Amino acid sequence: MKAVVCEKWGDPAEVLQVRDLPTPEPGPGQVRVRMLVSPINPSDLLMVRGVYGRQPPLPAVPGFEGVGVVEAGSGLLARLRMNRRVAVPNGGGGDWAEQVVLPARQVWPVPSRLTDEQAATFFVNPASALVMTRHVLGVPSGAWLLQTAAGSALGRMVIRLGRLFGFRTLNVVRRRAQAEELLREGVDAVVATDEESLTERVRALTQGEGVPFAIDPVGGATGGEVAASLARGGRMLLYGTLSGEPLTIDPRVLMVGQKRVEGFWMSEWVRQQSAVTMFLLFRQIGQLIRSGVLATEVAATFPMNDVRAAVRQAATPGRQGKVLLRIGSR
Ligand SMILES: NC(=O)c1ccc[n+]([C@@H]2O[C@H](COP(=O)([O-])OP(=O)(O)OC[C@H]3O[C@@H](n4cnc5c(N)ncnc54)[C@H](OP(=O)(O)O)[C@@H]3O)[C@@H](O)[C@H]2O)c1
Repeated sequence: MKAVVCEKWGDPAEVLQVRDLPTPEPGPGQVRVRMLVSPINPSDLLMVRGVYGRQPPLPAVPGFEGVGVVEAGSGLLARLRMNRRVAVPNGGGGDWAEQVVLPARQVWPVPSRLTDEQAATFFVNPASALVMTRHVLGVPSGAWLLQTAAGSALGRMVIRLGRLFGFRTLNVVRRRAQAEELLREGVDAVVATDEESLTERVRALTQGEGVPFAIDPVGGATGGEVAASLARGGRMLLYGTLSGEPLTIDPRVLMVGQKRVEGFWMSEWVRQQSAVTMFLLFRQIGQLIRSGVLATEVAATFPMNDVRAAVRQAATPGRQGKVLLRIGSR
């Protein structure tokens, strides 16, 4: 089978190669999935650069999620899923390959009405947006939620979840053009950090109180400003490292008002959940993707052989939507 292989960590556009690897054989309780489509997420690029939270051994095949068809396996669950199209969340990476072997309980049948593109992006961003806002923070109706990188795929899902569940989003982006775009889509509030002070805007919008909830995948100076924008008792989730910079927070910012800054990592949250919680979560995600709330906008789809061009486009600032790899066809 063909797979995208990384033999050393570095610039994805230079180190990734398409190579022939032996077809993997499923063991007891496992399935082999013939992959169809997989997205290029920031976490894939961080892993290839060698700076992700948990690095696999080299050589490595990237790809933390995707969609494929179960083509072999052993055990009852494997038989139930045979020939079905499934979402393939893969915390260890490996989905950028024509075939991948995983525990049968890790793959989830996806509704037939979803396109391959929507099914490929079924898990990482939709689940994180839903879990952070509804399960971890439980943002109540009417409350402000501040989010940075608000124009990202995940950020746009959070904006639509706010509309659905009644919480207000204060959306922070790094470019005025993106702020204008979000305003045209009717968001509650936008701050463009290339032109405005985040803390001043928050003070004005909240009558000096600050925001009770914030989620930040940027870190660095922006993350520090987010922490300084929290209200008394406020909570902030850190869930990404887009700036590549450490977070500097004056201890007094957190001491006064007993605010909390916490990390969030979807794959770790999943490990703490029961099978029932995960079943209900997957069902809700399927419904919310179909209704458009957790849908992903697609910028471009590249054949797997063009992976270097694909990762170059995925890493380009100002890109509109996700870049996907087409690995196989139905
Ligand atoms: N912790 C978890 O479990 C988890 C799960 C899912 C996602 N994530 C994280 O969530 C984030 C968003 O993912 P995604 O797939 O939605 O991303 P995406 O669609 O690829 O979009 C990335 C966005 O980040 C913005 N950005 C990049 N670098 C930035 C910087 N230094 N300062 C401010 N903004 C910056 C980009 O702005 P421009 O448009 O200006 O280029 C773009 O809007 C990523 O950090 C990802 O790793 C974490």
